[in-house]
Amino acid sequence: MLEHLDRLAPDPILGLMAAFRADTDPRKVDLGVGVYRDEGGETPVMQAVREAEREVLERQTTKTYVAPAGNAGFNEAIGRLVLGEGHSALSGGRVRVVQAPGGCGALRLGAELIRVAAPEAVVYVSTPTWANHVPLLSGCGLALKRYPYFDAATGAVAFDAMMGALDTLPARSVVLLHASCHNPTGADLAEGQWREVLSLIQRRALLPFIDIAYQGLGAGLDEDAFAPRLLCAQLPEALVAVSCSKNFGLYRERVGALISLSQTQTAADAALSQLVRIARGLYSMPPDHGAAIVARVLGSGLRDLWERELSAMRGRILELRAEAARALAAACPRRDFSHIVRQKGMFSYLGIDQDVVRRLRDSHHVYMTDDSRINIAGLRHENIPHFAEAVARAIG
Ligand SMILES: Cc1ncc(COP(=O)(O)O)c(C=O)c1O
Repeated sequence: MLEHLDRLAPDPILGLMAAFRADTDPRKVDLGVGVYRDEGGETPVMQAVREAEREVLERQTTKTYVAPAGNAGFNEAIGRLVLGEGHSALSGGRVRVVQAPGGCGALRLGAELIRVAAPEAVVYVSTPTWANHVPLLSGCGLALKRYPYFDAATGAVAFDAMMGALDTLPARSVVLLHASCHNPTGADLAEGQWREVLSLIQRRALLPFIDIAYQGLGAGLDEDAFAPRLLCAQLPEALVAVSCSKNFGLYRERVGALISLSQTQTAADAALSQLVRIARGLYSMPPDHGAAIVARVLGSGLRDLWERELSAMRGRILELRAEAARALAAACPRRDFSHIVRQKGMFSYLGIDQDVVRRLRDSHHVYMTDDSRINIAGLRHENIPHFAEAVARAIG
């Protein structure tokens, strides 16, 4: 039965990683993989996480099962981290939080919940969006369509085109929105634009499904959560998929959560019961270790240390953005790369053609995905001159 399976082409990012590893040139620069890196090129364990992990292990008395909805302390802490202390939706009892295996698990849980509620629903994702949104959201059978999002000429959101497209959607359409640090473009909506999106969602009776995977890595913990806080305060229903992979550096521990907002407390309990059933059928229960660490960090004196470490990571990204834009402006005076400073989070589109991307890789040892997405945190102060010079030469 298995002998007729087609062999699939490997994920392009894995090919890129392999090519980077095989490159022996000491000047090589990896801007491909989406993980935070420090100035030494490492993705270290955060100190607050290491300390919390030690405390968790010391206090743990059993490895027995948790529950399909995960760690209750973690769920409560994540609701407050994302929506903010004292948010009206939390105090109104309309929010339920379910721990999930990473932001990916949360996205899939949300998609499955939508499918149970409205199998005919169409989910609209931005063009472009993070590549994994497609299998995660459509894999359960939901139809997926696109709305315009990015203006390559300005490096900003094509807001009029986006609003024009969303304003044609039928009621009960689902719109996937990146809360901040849009992956792959780095182009985010301004607060005033979020207010316009809110009015449109209300007017057309849409369901927002917000993906927040980089809280604290763009402009700040509160600033990056502006959209879920606004939408959950004003709308009857919303879904929010949360990832703790980047802002806690817990990638392999698979920590995330799905926040669901319902119109009433009774509807919220019904949504929770469905989510528990869905989780049971997908993976039964989420892994505990990473969530226990996050609960400990957020619920103890370690929170200050974590916020300081996160703020240092954000500061490094902002510095690298400014420095890369300056170096590119000097090396390529005929091209405008100033959008890099205006964009947020770990990623930016460089906005160069695929043949230039290939020349950068083959002749200058600078690795990025074919769409010219760069992981800003993959740069180091010491290699920015080489990076800018290589871009200038590859452009020709
Ligand atoms: C936009 C976006 N959403 C969600 C995720 C989910 O991440 P994870 O499942 O590793 O927590 C990522 C990870 O790269 C992402 O970039």
